[in-house]
Amino acid sequence: MTERRRPAADDQAPASPQRRTLFKAIGAATAATAGAPLLTGCSSKDAPDSANNLSFDEIPHRLDFQHHVPEGYSADRVLSWGDPLEAFAGAFVPTKLTAAEQARRFGYNNDFIAYLPLHDEAGPGQGDMHITSDNSEHGLLCVNHEYTQPHLMFSGYTEDSANRGTSAEHVAIEQQACGHTIVEVEKTPDGWRPVQGSAYNRRISLTTEMELVGPAAGDTRLVTNADASGRKVHGTVGNCAGGKTPWGTVLIAEEGFGGAFQGDPDNIADEVEARNHHAFGIAEDNRNWGDYDRRFDITHEPNEPNRFGWMVEFDPYDPESIPRKLTTLGRFEHEGFTLVSKPGQPIVAYGGDDDEHQFVYRFVSKGIYRPGESAHNRDLLTEGTLFAGRFDEGGNGEWLPLTFGEGPLTELNGFRNQADVLIDCRRAAKLLGATPMDRPEDVETNPVNDCTYVMLTKNKKREAGEENAANPRARNTAGHVLEIVPPGIQGGQRDHASNRFSWNTFLLGGNPNAEDPRERGAYGQTSPGAISRHGWFTNPDNVAFDQLGNMWIATDGCESFGFHDGLWAMATEGELRAAPKHFFGCPEGGEICGPEFTPDGKTLFVAVQHPADADRSTFDEPLHRWPDNDPNLPPRPSVLAIRRDDGGPVGS
Ligand code: FEO
Ligand code: CA
Ligand code: CA
Repeated sequence: MTERRRPAADDQAPASPQRRTLFKAIGAATAATAGAPLLTGCSSKDAPDSANNLSFDEIPHRLDFQHHVPEGYSADRVLSWGDPLEAFAGAFVPTKLTAAEQARRFGYNNDFIAYLPLHDEAGPGQGDMHITSDNSEHGLLCVNHEYTQPHLMFSGYTEDSANRGTSAEHVAIEQQACGHTIVEVEKTPDGWRPVQGSAYNRRISLTTEMELVGPAAGDTRLVTNADASGRKVHGTVGNCAGGKTPWGTVLIAEEGFGGAFQGDPDNIADEVEARNHHAFGIAEDNRNWGDYDRRFDITHEPNEPNRFGWMVEFDPYDPESIPRKLTTLGRFEHEGFTLVSKPGQPIVAYGGDDDEHQFVYRFVSKGIYRPGESAHNRDLLTEGTLFAGRFDEGGNGEWLPLTFGEGPLTELNGFRNQADVLIDCRRAAKLLGATPMDRPEDVETNPVNDCTYVMLTKNKKREAGEENAANPRARNTAGHVLEIVPPGIQGGQRDHASNRFSWNTFLLGGNPNAEDPRERGAYGQTSPGAISRHGWFTNPDNVAFDQLGNMWIATDGCESFGFHDGLWAMATEGELRAAPKHFFGCPEGGEICGPEFTPDGKTLFVAVQHPADADRSTFDEPLHRWPDNDPNLPPRPSVLAIRRDDGGPVGS
């Protein structure tokens, strides 16, 4: 989500009442010398001789109304907002859209993408067979829809009125346009296509029945007028990034949920909840869904926000499955959670809380992962320990357990039980002394070198004097990437369950030739001149790894530096470690999400979110109409499938 749509949402201060709020409750200097050394290899002893396997011709920085891929590559449009998922649905006419229609169509503002192979001999509900497949030409696309933008979805809105004055029907459409889509897709000679009418196709929205599980489920703070059990909730919102499990389920994050709720937290009698709601940017002038659907008005339903801000797990192979909100993984503005799964060991999962001065988290399951035993594996994320990261000077760090009764997490500090620790995760992590970070986005482990990488997108609120070793720049406008190195290498594998780790600054976003040293980017072991004019980028957000262990970073914020958001690919080892090459560019106003490779590496799916989201750009007068360029259609968030024209692996 672009920064211009973020309100303040830290646990220090309420969001400014002047601040406009859409979904996300929308919201240097010494980099190379502070803290850990820059550019130290994750496993330099084991680094391959050369990681120069990224042979594509780099594209230039641009800012125009098109998307761009390198010469010799094609980008097929797979799905756009409003595309039908059912066999006999008609063409998309946005001016005639109803909530019932939206519930049958691809949602708005596509974000995270998971590709799950389909086994040709299995059907719906047979996930155990499907997970044995590596089919790279026929599978399920599971796509998040992070938030809605009425001024780009409906006629008659201005940008300033976008979160006020909506009609009941528009609110109902918005609630069906966010959430998630599962759709069967297949590769054809003409490119990737959705299978309309597939039995797998499913929309998850704000009305989908879900279950709260784990230690906080059933707690009194999760009870509402509609649900005395504190275990049943309708829907999910703010679905940003996510992850996949080896037992065939998908994890989706609830990130900017605060913007969906209206009401002044100071009007809540319970001081604990008032503080809690302030911490997530809930305010009177947030969007006014609560006028039409009272559970989104905290003065009517003060506990409803506590039922959001979780990770959600569901089985895309079973269209009847009920998604579960995993309270084990804590409640905050989840960017996503990604897994490290090693046979016979606990599942380790890493995630970030995408807000200024918030924390990086790690979960270690109580049980061990047993490949092929889905009935056992499916409960692994419901029991275990959540930790927050402390990144120390000198490149060492420690994972601090968020366990009720330990350290400061006691009744003396207002925690009644483990449910309180998980619901008020931010406060607990801060009390433990976790390191406040520059907006942690994706945290993902490179399957080749087994090190973990943290995208830190930016933090303009970090004042001079508030720098720390892992966040070395005051007013960090360009973001950076950290590398977590778990201890020990046994059989080429690291111990992700250890509570100790070391870390490096992998790169600093920004122009390597910037005059101001505090804004100067730093990439790789090469001199600044060795980074091409178009190789530098800012604001790392999502990340993926290809089969060779190359890192593919998706950005959110490059337009502030004069060019499109896009994808940059780079090695994590060898002499070209952290030396990026520019692969994809968005149409103006768009942010790139995903990215996701098929198992064979020959297709790279990306999601272009909020194209034409720019000052004064509206449904009636958009900046442009990508990707249709049709005067009868607005700009539409869309998923693209990128492939090499000669059929080879993307990037190589
Ligand atoms: Fe929704 Fe953290 O980007
Ligand atoms: Ca983002
Ligand atoms: Ca994101």
